[in-house]
Amino acid sequence: MRALVVRRYGPPEVLELQQVADAQAKAGEVLIRVKAVGVNFADLLQRMGIYPGVPKPPFIPGLEIAGVVERTVEGARPGEGEPLKPGDAVMALTQFNAYAEWAAVPAAQVYRLPAGMTFADGAAIPVNYLTAYHSMFTMGNLRPGDRILIHGAAGGVGIAAVQLARAKGLVIFGTAGPAKQEYLRKIGVDHAIDYEKSDFVQIVRKFAPEGIEMVMDPIGGKSFGRSYKCLGPAGRLVVYGFSAASGPDGKRSWLRGLTALLQTPRFHPLKLMGQSVSVIGVNLGKIQSRSGLLRMELDELFQLYSAGKIKPVIGKTFPLEQGAAAHQYIHERKNIGKVLLSVR
Ligand SMILES: NC(=O)c1ccc[n+]([C@@H]2O[C@H](COP(=O)([O-])OP(=O)(O)OC[C@H]3O[C@@H](n4cnc5c(N)ncnc54)[C@H](OP(=O)(O)O)[C@@H]3O)[C@@H](O)[C@H]2O)c1
Repeated sequence: MRALVVRRYGPPEVLELQQVADAQAKAGEVLIRVKAVGVNFADLLQRMGIYPGVPKPPFIPGLEIAGVVERTVEGARPGEGEPLKPGDAVMALTQFNAYAEWAAVPAAQVYRLPAGMTFADGAAIPVNYLTAYHSMFTMGNLRPGDRILIHGAAGGVGIAAVQLARAKGLVIFGTAGPAKQEYLRKIGVDHAIDYEKSDFVQIVRKFAPEGIEMVMDPIGGKSFGRSYKCLGPAGRLVVYGFSAASGPDGKRSWLRGLTALLQTPRFHPLKLMGQSVSVIGVNLGKIQSRSGLLRMELDELFQLYSAGKIKPVIGKTFPLEQGAAAHQYIHERKNIGKVLLSVR
């Protein structure tokens, strides 16, 4: 089969289209003919060799796909509902091995697409929307009227969080670069913040002097400490990324990584208690072992999708063979919404 392979850790050009051995489904797995691949910021970190648990090169990167079931191997249990069968349209969370024509995935991580959902939407939903939903509602227990600050609000997870916040009746603060401000207002961000021009702590405190209920922060480094300053009593800081460690050139830099690490605050338990706030860590990769929980969250997301309350924004689709250009596009922060790879 054709696959995009990381030849060595490095910049986008290390992605190379190769002919590799076909994916083989083992017991309990489903073989999927891939139609669309979701490109995540995490894939960039995998390629650079700074993603937790990343294999040694050569390897096939990527975390999510949509496609058609080719066959299931005995013992493949898809969780609730009808067993999967050849021809079913599905989405799946993979651990690497997504940038290819075929993927073999444990059945528990495969979900049948609801009627009417395209492969593009199917590949754009799992990572972004599960991360946002799990953070905001399973862990965060947000209620209508609560105020949330969403960093990177025009990105993949960011737009998912904005749509979910609107569906729940939250007040939304959102940060993004200067070119994306107009877009933030268009999608219903109440307080669009250009982080190049304004200090987001000041803006949040101006409109909510007592502090807000949640900040979603995937930036890391000094951003975690500043986000924490936005919280009021019962506030929750969700830490779910460390984008500050990667730069626009797509090259690994120990200095940049170390600087971000040194700028990361420590949260003392007694201080958290004293201020009555929480710091919540979210890592979708870890939650995959709780497949029942993810399935419940996805069912809720499918209902919101069918009701027209959420809809992935596909920023740009590249053919599989142009995966390096897709990575470069995200490094340069050009994407609004999701970037996909289409597979012929
Ligand atoms: N923990 C989890 O399970 C989990 C799951 C999914 C994603 N994540 C994390 O969530 C973040 C967003 O992921 P995504 O796939 O949705 O990507 P994305 O938001 O679609 O793309 C990255 C965007 O982040 C913004 N950004 C802000 N500061 C940045 C910086 N220092 N370096 C690079 N980009 C910066 C840029 O938008 P502006 O132009 O507006 O600055 C950029 O366009 C990443 O950190 C990712 O690792 C974590």
